[in-house]
Amino acid sequence: MVKKKACVFISGSGTNLKSIIKSSRDYNFPINIELVISNKKSAKGLNYAKKYSIPYRILACDRRKFEQGVLQLIFLKKIEIICLAGFMKILSKNFVRKFRGKILNIHPSLLPKFKGLNTFNRVLETNEKFSGCTVHFVNAKLDSGKIILQKKVKISKKDTPNKLAKKILIQEHKIYPRAIMKIISL
Ligand code: GRF
Repeated sequence: MVKKKACVFISGSGTNLKSIIKSSRDYNFPINIELVISNKKSAKGLNYAKKYSIPYRILACDRRKFEQGVLQLIFLKKIEIICLAGFMKILSKNFVRKFRGKILNIHPSLLPKFKGLNTFNRVLETNEKFSGCTVHFVNAKLDSGKIILQKKVKISKKDTPNKLAKKILIQEHKIYPRAIMKIISL
């Protein structure tokens, strides 16, 4: 079986990266992570790249240089799929267009509701009964690409933004690998 070559972009704790790495160790999982890219030197998620011996690069620079660097690496490593996992930089329209249908993102809400930042505060302020997470294709508009998979999470009265974030993160770790399997068949 030939797995597709993937690259994961991170900015922070990288727990979604970890869940994708773990899934990718399975013989039947359709991608292999060939590269991890962080736009932050301090991203804790880089430790998972180290732990699992995955090559990584830190590109802590402006968007133009970041994307130039990424393009070179992607070309060199023949990357076919890009997974954004807690990646906090907005990619340019040009970059996104180059990889149409090949960039995935995970967002901690039931899109199209609550695009953007501070999701958990906004969800709680509006007294929603449910929230959740969404894996979607990335297009030129923020958090607006075609939805691949979603998971609903019930909101309890006791939920704080932190508690809700933790509950949703557990589901993120499950749906990201499933979404990858859903869109890539070997
Ligand atoms: C996740 O909630 C993800 O949905 C959001 O940022 C958080 C990152 O978590 N985009 P991690 O870096 O994967 O631990």
